[in-house]
Amino acid sequence: MKMTRCFMLGIILLLNVQSVIHAYLSCTNTTLLHNVTTGQMLPNHKIQSFTASGLMICARECVYQTNCLSFNFDTESGLCELTRAIAGSSLPLVSNIGYLYAAKSDWVTAISETCRHVNCPPNHRCVPGLNGTRCVRNDCGIPPTIEFGSSVDYRGTVPGYTASYNCSGIGVKAEVATLFCSDKGIWEGQQCRRVSSCEDIRDCDSSYVDGEYWLYPNAFGNDERVKVYCHGLTTDSPTDYITLPKENRILWPHKHAVGYNCDLVTTDRTDSGESVFDKIRITTSTMAINQSDYQFARLLWGINHEYGNAQDCSNSNGVCADTVIGYFKIDTRETGLMINRTAVWRNTTYSFGMKYFNRSSDHVIEAVCGGWCGGCLAKTPLTLELDKSTVLPDGSAADVTCTFF
Ligand SMILES: *[C@@H]1O[C@H](CO)[C@@H](O)[C@H](O)[C@H]1NC(C)=O
Ligand SMILES: *[C@@H]1O[C@H](CO)[C@@H](O)[C@H](O)[C@H]1NC(C)=O
Ligand SMILES: *[C@@H]1O[C@H](CO)[C@@H](O)[C@H](O)[C@H]1NC(C)=O
Ligand SMILES: *[C@@H]1O[C@H](CO)[C@@H](O)[C@H](O)[C@H]1NC(C)=O
Ligand SMILES: *[C@@H]1O[C@H](CO)[C@@H](O)[C@H](O)[C@H]1NC(C)=O
Ligand SMILES: *[C@@H]1O[C@H](CO)[C@@H](O)[C@H](O)[C@H]1NC(C)=O
Ligand SMILES: *[C@@H]1O[C@H](CO)[C@@H](O)[C@H](O)[C@H]1NC(C)=O
Ligand SMILES: *[C@@H]1O[C@H](CO)[C@@H](O)[C@H](O)[C@H]1NC(C)=O
Repeated sequence: MKMTRCFMLGIILLLNVQSVIHAYLSCTNTTLLHNVTTGQMLPNHKIQSFTASGLMICARECVYQTNCLSFNFDTESGLCELTRAIAGSSLPLVSNIGYLYAAKSDWVTAISETCRHVNCPPNHRCVPGLNGTRCVRNDCGIPPTIEFGSSVDYRGTVPGYTASYNCSGIGVKAEVATLFCSDKGIWEGQQCRRVSSCEDIRDCDSSYVDGEYWLYPNAFGNDERVKVYCHGLTTDSPTDYITLPKENRILWPHKHAVGYNCDLVTTDRTDSGESVFDKIRITTSTMAINQSDYQFARLLWGINHEYGNAQDCSNSNGVCADTVIGYFKIDTRETGLMINRTAVWRNTTYSFGMKYFNRSSDHVIEAVCGGWCGGCLAKTPLTLELDKSTVLPDGSAADVTCTFF
């Protein structure tokens, strides 16, 4: 009677020879079969799926894994699904021809290997070895909820599996965020990201036109809101600017000192000029200012010169240092940003350097520099840092909503 039941089960469930042997041996104790429900399975709550060469292999794997409480076994394909839940009134089984469902508890004694009596901590798997058993962390657990992520889609929770989320929300890039279960048994990977550059806006919805937007630059960890003007949004290469409500000016004068009394006379030099920067171009990944972008520089006369540098050609005889008048003024008030406090200027080596420097606040920096021809230049490209003391009105820029799902 016993033998027949077991043998039949073996035939029904298991196709290859090795499995039949496993099943046959295991059937020396019929209590094994008590908790098998045929034609049904427990959906969801999967830890892992794999093709097992037999029911016993499937049951054994469940026994080894602390978090496994039950399993489904597809008698046709050999697919073994380990689950972290137990069927019950709130978690009913569903019909599925060819499947069987079993709770782990009654299978513990069916497993002959050393691991069966080892109680590993949660998320661990018992590994039998020559020196006894070890517990290794193998289960990342139920994937976390992530900020701006939809409900999660996953098929398993051990290394090799991924969990994916659709990202959406105001200022959030419409993309699929994917976490993967690492060998350390921890979910790792890309969270949902916010729009960090004008290019991101262009990518998220082609209907946006040039204007002020709230962006979350990667330079500030992708979570600090910055007001950025997007230029060329309908082109292949949109660019990012910061609008400067206050005056930012550069002067490379066309005067220079003559004689030893240093009288300033107007020259016809073509390399001088004066401009006011209404916007400065930035790279959002570093918040570096592109000091030589003149898209929004208003040229008052002559030619444009780099933002934040001051030079002139006023000291031809080397003794007229007092008369240098090359000038720059940086004023980032009302932008929510300021020049990185570590920024320093260096003298060019020609004749003179910096005559006057006044960093009167975090936002306003003025300098007078000159030489033959020379002055003072920012030592490294100027970058902007966040000025948390300035709060810009919500309505001063538009939120971005991405739509590609
Ligand atoms: C059969 O299994 C039951 C319950 O798991 C156990 O109590 C019993 O000792 C087992 N019998 C043998 C012969 O291993
Ligand atoms: C397993 O089957 C036995 C006998 O039918 C039953 O008493 C027990 O509650 C079942 N255990 C589980 C976990 O379903
Ligand atoms: C077994 O343990 C010994 C001593 O701790 C060690 O040297 C050996 O490498 C171990 N063997 C295996 C297979 O883990
Ligand atoms: C993501 O969106 C797609 C398309 O709308 C949908 O088919 C899929 O089920 C969603 N995934 C998640 C995890 O919500
Ligand atoms: C800076 O702006 C100029 C003028 O628009 C451009 O040619 C150059 O490529 C920009 N440099 C960087 C690093 O973006
Ligand atoms: C720059 O030049 C000015 C005037 O010659 C001088 O006082 C200052 O020390 C120089 N600064 C540096 C950093 O060399
Ligand atoms: C620096 O600039 C501020 C603001 O314009 C001004 O009040 C102050 O007198 C200046 N300091 C010097 C040393 O010129
Ligand atoms: C200022 O610039 C330095 C050097 O590039 C950088 O290490 C630092 O993080 C910046 N500070 C802020 C607040 O952005």
